[in-house]
Amino acid sequence: MRNGDASPFETAREYLPGGTLGILTLPKGFKFIASSGSGAYIYNTRGEKFIDYLIGSGSVILGHCNPAVVDAVTRQVQRGTNFYIENDKAIMLAKEVASAIPCADKVRFVSSGSEANSYAVRLARAYTNKDLVLKFEGSYHGFQDYAMVSSQFANPKNVKDFPAVSRDSAGIPGAVAKTMIAAPFNDIETTRRIISRHQKRLAAVMLEPLHRTIAPRPGFLQELREITEAKGIPLIFDEVVTGFRLAYGGAQEYYGVVPDLACVGKTFSGGIPLAAVVGKAEFMDALDPQNGYYGSTSDKRVFMTGTFNGNAISCASGLATLKELRRPGVYQELNSYGKKLRARMQEVFDHHGVPAQVHGDGAVTGFTFTKKDVVDSRSESMGNGQMKEDVTYGLLKRSIFAPYKLYSSVAHKEKELETTIAALDDTMKSLAPIRVTT
Ligand SMILES: Cc1ncc(COP(=O)(O)O)c(C=O)c1O
Repeated sequence: MRNGDASPFETAREYLPGGTLGILTLPKGFKFIASSGSGAYIYNTRGEKFIDYLIGSGSVILGHCNPAVVDAVTRQVQRGTNFYIENDKAIMLAKEVASAIPCADKVRFVSSGSEANSYAVRLARAYTNKDLVLKFEGSYHGFQDYAMVSSQFANPKNVKDFPAVSRDSAGIPGAVAKTMIAAPFNDIETTRRIISRHQKRLAAVMLEPLHRTIAPRPGFLQELREITEAKGIPLIFDEVVTGFRLAYGGAQEYYGVVPDLACVGKTFSGGIPLAAVVGKAEFMDALDPQNGYYGSTSDKRVFMTGTFNGNAISCASGLATLKELRRPGVYQELNSYGKKLRARMQEVFDHHGVPAQVHGDGAVTGFTFTKKDVVDSRSESMGNGQMKEDVTYGLLKRSIFAPYKLYSSVAHKEKELETTIAALDDTMKSLAPIRVTT
């Protein structure tokens, strides 16, 4: 320890780049170090209590320390943590995931959403023997080189004309970025034109069916499925956010559209690292080691492995989480909380005469200070970012932990909703009148 008397903030700054675990920073340097969570609440090291709308980046869908999850994890820790070989919990969970998700004939567990998306794209590229992948501008599919183009982290000054992509991080090879093109979410005619122009080279079309916090226009996903099916282009749903969140069968069940491959993560393992790539057998069978790798003669084989794949604790936690999510009425409650939250937030902004759009679907909510409809990432980026930061800061000061968007959980109830709305109203009263010109 270089500085024995340092505060946790100073220690974080000394040992973690930027004092952070990733990219999330709170407005105006609001200082917050988490120490525990319980239900819909998160506590910091100063013992202060906040309603938590981050909930582990959406991963704690039952709320913190759900007793069924705590019990399952505690029992599994005593039986063994990681085996690498098939284990009873992983097999039971694979069966449950396959029975829940419409496109899932087979399941391959991995540890993160980024890994799942990497592999889904590899599977599609192997299946089609093509390289080019179309994504939607502003989507986030993880940290991997090909996905960090034209993502939500794009520099607004670097926006390109469709379908060209911009690189969003140093260290991404230009050659990798050239394997990607982008289309505008919710604009089926532009997307159709781009697909037609590039169809001979396209290995996959991939998207978040709920694009960050922007819902698909009615018919958008259905038409995209029809176009890709007609042209024989695999469709990948990144359901790392929507899987087991919008419905038990994810966005596929909720919006009624079935892709060829999908990725799930976050929600289904109670906050313990776990994700999966799932899909139709014709794609997934390329992962069967009987098809051979290491010197095999099969050139359709796809390599995929990981030390923690099917980790027994993650899978035990997953089984307990899914059991809770299967309780009658859970999704009605989750979705109704999100719907009410959006309606009430919109009322507050309208009441204060602030041009704002509250958007999202199910238990995922976003807000943008703009006069225009938010239908894609470009319209969202027109919003007043300073105002969003000020509102987020105002909420934090009033014990609402909602960094830029709001995930709600099964543990968020009427009381939390009313407290949130009162805090938002108070925040808006305290802010100087603002100008929203776009
Ligand atoms: C839609 C989506 N896909 C993929 C990822 C990456 O998942 P992970 O952070 O588990 O690698 C995320 C993470 O936020 C996500 O929201």
